[in-house]
Amino acid sequence: MWTDLSLVSLTLICNRLLLALNNFCYHTPMAENIMEKLVALCKRRGIIFPGSDLYGGLNGTWDLGPIGVMFANNIKSLWWQNVVTSREDVVGLDSAILHHPRVWEASGHVASFTDPLIECKVCHARFRADHADDIKKHQAEHKDKEDWTEVKQFNLMFKTFVGPIDDEQNKTYLRPETAQGIFINYANVLETMRVKIPFGIAQIGKGFRNEITTGNFLFRVREFEMMELEFFVKPGTDKEWHEYWKKYRYQWYVDLGIKKENIKVVDLPKEDLAHYSKGTAEIWYNWPFMGFGEMEGVANRGDYDLSRHAEFSKKTLDYFEQETRERFVPYVIEPSVGVGRAMLAFLIDAYAEDDPTSSSGQGKRVFLKLHPKLAPYKVAVFPLLANKEQLVEKAKEIYKTLKQSTSVAFDDRGNIGKRYLYQDEIGTPWCVTVDFDSLTDKKVTVRDRDTAKQERVAIADLPSYFHDKLR
Ligand code: GAP
Repeated sequence: MWTDLSLVSLTLICNRLLLALNNFCYHTPMAENIMEKLVALCKRRGIIFPGSDLYGGLNGTWDLGPIGVMFANNIKSLWWQNVVTSREDVVGLDSAILHHPRVWEASGHVASFTDPLIECKVCHARFRADHADDIKKHQAEHKDKEDWTEVKQFNLMFKTFVGPIDDEQNKTYLRPETAQGIFINYANVLETMRVKIPFGIAQIGKGFRNEITTGNFLFRVREFEMMELEFFVKPGTDKEWHEYWKKYRYQWYVDLGIKKENIKVVDLPKEDLAHYSKGTAEIWYNWPFMGFGEMEGVANRGDYDLSRHAEFSKKTLDYFEQETRERFVPYVIEPSVGVGRAMLAFLIDAYAEDDPTSSSGQGKRVFLKLHPKLAPYKVAVFPLLANKEQLVEKAKEIYKTLKQSTSVAFDDRGNIGKRYLYQDEIGTPWCVTVDFDSLTDKKVTVRDRDTAKQERVAIADLPSYFHDKLR
C-alpha cells in the first residue's frame, strides 16, 4: 500500500526524471534556433497551427489554437483599452471587409499597392526584387544558370467578385488594410457621435495581402488581423500629434514587457514612404531572423485619404471648426500594427529557458515570460494528487471562484512537475497547488512562473492576491 508520503516522494522522483528528459530534448542541435523552437512550441501547446494543416498547409496562413486565441484576444483588448476605452478622444468601428471597388481606386491601392516582382526564368520561382538576400540564395541554387525576367509591379490585393457574375463590373478586393473602412465612415461618425477634432476612429479586423513571398512564421503572411487608428487632426498640428502617437505606442509595448533594448522608433527616409504618406515612423523590433525591422507603422497620412474620397465620391469630407469658423480637410495620424506581428514580438521577447544551475531549481525548462496581462491563463489550479477526492474537490472549488474574475486553468493530469512545465510553456504566471495541509490550514502553495519561488497563501485571500498582481 502506498502512503500519501511515498506518493509525494514518487511524484518528486518523476519530476526529476521529467526534467532530465526535458533537459535532453532542449539540447538537441535541431532546436537551437529560437524561431524553430517557437514554431514547435506553438504547435505543441495549441497556440498556433499551420493553416490548413490537414491538407498539407496553405502558404502564408496560420490558425490560432485554443491557447493562441486567448493570447490574441488579450493583445486586442489591451490595444483597444490603450487606444479607445482609456481615452476620451477615440471611438471604435467595425466596418465590412468588402468595400465598393471605387474605394480602392480612390485610396490609390489599385494603382500603387504593389511590390516589385521578378521571376527566375530557369524554374519560374517568383521573388520580391527588393529582397536581395532571397535572390542571392536562389541564384546560388542554380549555380551556373542565372536568368531573370524584367522587374514588374505586382498588385498585392486579392481580387474577388460580389454576386454570382464573375466579371470586371462585379470585381472588388479583400481589404489590404482596415483604414479605408474608417475613412469611408468618417462623415457617418462625425454626424452621429459627439466628436470634435482632434479625434480618432479605431478598428480591429482582418486584412489580406497576396504577398509575393511570405515567411518567418507570423511576420509576413497573406491573411492577418490589423489594429488601426485613424486620428483626425487640424493641419498644422499634425507633426506634434505624430510625435505624440509615436511615443504613446512605443510605451504600450514597453509597459507590456518588451525589453527596451529590443525596440526602437525610427523615422523612415522619404524614398521608403507609402503612396499616401507625408512622413512615417516605424516602431522596430529586434527580430532574431533579420535584426531591427518594422513591428508597427505610425504614419502621417496628411489629407490624402479624405481628399481622395471626397473627389471620388463627390461628397464633402471637410470639417467645420466652430471656435475659429474655419473649414478644412483634417490630416490623419495612423498607428497601425498586425496582431500577429505584435504577437510574434511578444512571443520572442518572452521566450526563456532556465539554466539547470539557476536559482529556480527547476532544471532546464522552457517558459514564456509573458506579461501577466498578456498571458492566456493567469492562474492554473491543481490538486496535488488526482486520485484524492478531497484535494480535487477543494481545487475545483478554488478554480470556480477564481474563474469568476480571471482566466484560470484546472489540471489534474500527470504529476505536479509535468503540470508546471506545461503551464510554463504557455506562459501561465502562477500555479496554485492544493495539498493535504490545505485541508486543515486553509492555505495553498502559489508558485511563481519566473522565479519558481513558492509561497503559502490563504485560500480566502486568493481573489484579492491575484487581483493585486494583475493590476
Ligand atoms: N494602414 C496602414 C498600413 O496598412 P502597413 O505598414 O502596410 O500600413 C501595417 O501595415 C502593419 O500591418 C505593419 O506594421 C505590420 O505590423 C502589419 N503587416 C503588414 N503586412 C503584413 C503581413 N504581410 N503579414 C503580417 N503583418 C503585416
